[in-house]
Amino acid sequence: MSKNLDLYAKIEPYIGFYDEYDKLYDEYLKILKEYDVLSILDVGCGNGNMLKKLQDRGYRAEGIDLSQEMVSISQKKGVKASCKDIADVEGRYDAVIAVADVLNYIPKESLKDFLKKVQERLKKGGVFLCDINTKFGFSEVADGVMVKDEDDIFLSIDALFDGETLDTHITLFEKKGELYRRSDAYIEQYYHDIDDIVNSTAMKFEDSRGISMFSDLSDKLLLGFINL
Ligand SMILES: C[S@@+](CC[C@H](N)C(=O)[O-])C[C@H]1O[C@@H](n2cnc3c(N)ncnc32)[C@H](O)[C@@H]1O
Repeated sequence: MSKNLDLYAKIEPYIGFYDEYDKLYDEYLKILKEYDVLSILDVGCGNGNMLKKLQDRGYRAEGIDLSQEMVSISQKKGVKASCKDIADVEGRYDAVIAVADVLNYIPKESLKDFLKKVQERLKKGGVFLCDINTKFGFSEVADGVMVKDEDDIFLSIDALFDGETLDTHITLFEKKGELYRRSDAYIEQYYHDIDDIVNSTAMKFEDSRGISMFSDLSDKLLLGFINL
């Protein structure tokens, strides 16, 4: 569905940071425990690590992602995932989650529509949990250049935050015999503050908490909503 997101799926194992992501997942799991939740839709489920944790804890969890490559990685972990847009999901869930800056992939002008679709997938009283990058997270953590030079690959991730948008250029060279194959991708992420999200939905804003994945300061904010 998305060539750019598919290349991101391919390079994610070279970026790693799995322990840091586990820290974020633990926060979601703690909050979910406070509610009466069994069925969960994970929007932007990525590599399926969160889905696996949910499944192992007895939740009825399923995921969707716009990247077929990500969905294939998820499915290999034995979780239920499919490559589709939230507009094509049916049924209602006790909770919808969008973990690890999925909302930052949604342009400001599309937030209202995306959040409406989230709400339509929630039962009455259902919970929506998501996180967004803080300005600090974008400017001090995500912004910058990362290079991996290993035996069979050369990877460059060049991210620039201009205060509103994070533009990330990914270039991957993979060794194929004597030659290297080059792939390029471009991903845009959008900064949203709490008000951008709260004012774009009819769901009731419950609470927010700062998450420090990569530093002592909050690089993400986790937000909770209820579908009254
Ligand atoms: C940073 S990754 C996070 C993945 C996963 N939630 C995790 O915790 O590792 C963001 C994911 O969102 C997916 N994505 C971006 N926009 C999306 C959308 N509108 N609907 C579904 N998935 C989306 C991307 O393909 C990518 O897998």
